[in-house]
Amino acid sequence: MAKTIHTEFLVIGSGIAGLSYALKVANHGKVILITKASEDESNTKYAQGGIAAVMYEPDSYEKHIADTIACGDGLCDPEIVRFVIRESTERVQELAAWGAQFDRKEDGNYQLAKEGGHTEPRILHHKDITGFEIERALLAQVNAHPNIEIFDHHFAIDIITQHHLGIEVNSRTPDIQCYGAYVLNTNNGEVDTVLAKITLMATGGAGHVYATTTNPIIATGDGVAMVYRAKGKVENMEFIQFHPTSLYNPGEHPSFLITEAMRGHGGILRTQDGKEFMHKYDDRKSLAPRDIVARAIDNEMKIRGEDFVYLDCTHLDADDLIQHFPNIHEKCLSLGIDMRKDFIPVVPAMHYMCGGVKVDLQGRSSIDRLYAAGECSCTGLHGANRLASNSLLEAVVYAHAAAQDSIQRIQELDFRDGIPHWDAEGTDAPEEMVLITQSLREVQTIMSNYVGIVRSDLRLRRAHDRLEILWLENEALYKKITVSQKVCELRNVITVAYTIIKHSLARKASCGLHYSLDYPPVKKN
Ligand code: FAD
Ligand code: SIN
Repeated sequence: MAKTIHTEFLVIGSGIAGLSYALKVANHGKVILITKASEDESNTKYAQGGIAAVMYEPDSYEKHIADTIACGDGLCDPEIVRFVIRESTERVQELAAWGAQFDRKEDGNYQLAKEGGHTEPRILHHKDITGFEIERALLAQVNAHPNIEIFDHHFAIDIITQHHLGIEVNSRTPDIQCYGAYVLNTNNGEVDTVLAKITLMATGGAGHVYATTTNPIIATGDGVAMVYRAKGKVENMEFIQFHPTSLYNPGEHPSFLITEAMRGHGGILRTQDGKEFMHKYDDRKSLAPRDIVARAIDNEMKIRGEDFVYLDCTHLDADDLIQHFPNIHEKCLSLGIDMRKDFIPVVPAMHYMCGGVKVDLQGRSSIDRLYAAGECSCTGLHGANRLASNSLLEAVVYAHAAAQDSIQRIQELDFRDGIPHWDAEGTDAPEEMVLITQSLREVQTIMSNYVGIVRSDLRLRRAHDRLEILWLENEALYKKITVSQKVCELRNVITVAYTIIKHSLARKASCGLHYSLDYPPVKKN
């Protein structure tokens, strides 16, 4: 039987953003945290390189701020950058106090790594499985808190607004409010109504809008799509970050990441004939920011008609290499690649969504009572390109800001009456799942072919027209069949793909991660 559940705080997503927010608000009311797979499944769990923070001299907030702004290619909001970076030290200390173990040197100080675009080593890490360690520590705290209940295998379909009370809502409606969400319990197929005074969207990324991605399969852009459908503001979706070095292993989906920290450690990119090439593109060579490295690899592969380039770590101290990157070593060995002696084949893959649900300094979205944090949000920190390891940082800083604001507001809010149950009338079990799986593949192919690392107006328009057909087909299907996670995810992937194309078409310039052949980049001094 479908249920109606009341909770002060509804958190959608159990990655770093959702878990850390839940911990912070839990002493001020009941928290229900829903997550669509097992409780630990998230992009967070797979983070390798680490979390950027200013810890010791000669590093400084000013240097980290300057690196972030330089990487963002003129589109970062400087006020937001200063706010996030100045919080970095305190927030990572809090993660450590919650039990996350970051590697230390013999003198007890944190061992800091370097990644592309950073002028100082400032990445705290736990070997090459930092995200796994953070997720472990946060879940241990959350599971021990009496006010937090996790509903795993629960899928948020849509947030509830006035629209569900029959009141017309459009993108110009000034006071759209969020009253909770309709949630599919995938264990029994029932759709529960979860009513909340405050909701946090923390649904992570959208890697599976593309054919190859480093993201786990949960990353289907659900939060962005839900907010877009509810007429909330979504921004900067054209800035899709392709990680330069996912492991080239055809057939493996998602792609396994080869952390940028390996290049920070001295790894060098080479074409298949063994030649270095990054000096042709940027003075920082293999450690240039990601947009530059991914484009350079893409260009070399296209010129040569090759499917991958190599990462060469064979000149590095073998024991040291394995000590720092044991997980990558094990993975490579399982494929017969010994990184001490062999080059690692790598290729760019969709990795991170810089845009998302627009939020202010307190993490408030344009919809009242709805906050967003983490990868599904757009704060202004990343601008046109995210600096490596700034994502976990942004998620904890904004989870904190949103929690502080939520705690201030919770007393003045009440539950909304009269919300109807989920309406399943007129729907039937789907006859053919192939309609869904095939449409998903089609979207991914369109996006990878026409809306990838290098774009043009012609390619974008072609993608737009192809996608429109898929959208119409899927809307018709969605209305006819019993709601399921798969059909909702397809709907969300199509919506997110549409926003990426729409925002890309609107940006008449090459900037950061959005590179268009029709608008060659303007040379900057
Ligand atoms: P996530 O951790 O992705 O969590 C989202 C949660 O929402 C999941 O639990 C998911 O199941 C749930 N969810 C989604 N949709 C629904 C729905 N409809 N209903 C219910 N639940 C839902 N960043 C760094 O800063 N440093 C790194 O070293 C780094 N390495 C990375 C390596 C890899 C392989 C990947 C994929 C990413 C990496 N990133 C890194 C990026 C970073 O991990 C993510 O941006 C960050 O973890 C996002 O955290 P989040 O809490 O916003 O979302
Ligand atoms: C990596 O380890 O290369 C990923 C870091 C990031 O996405 O910030």
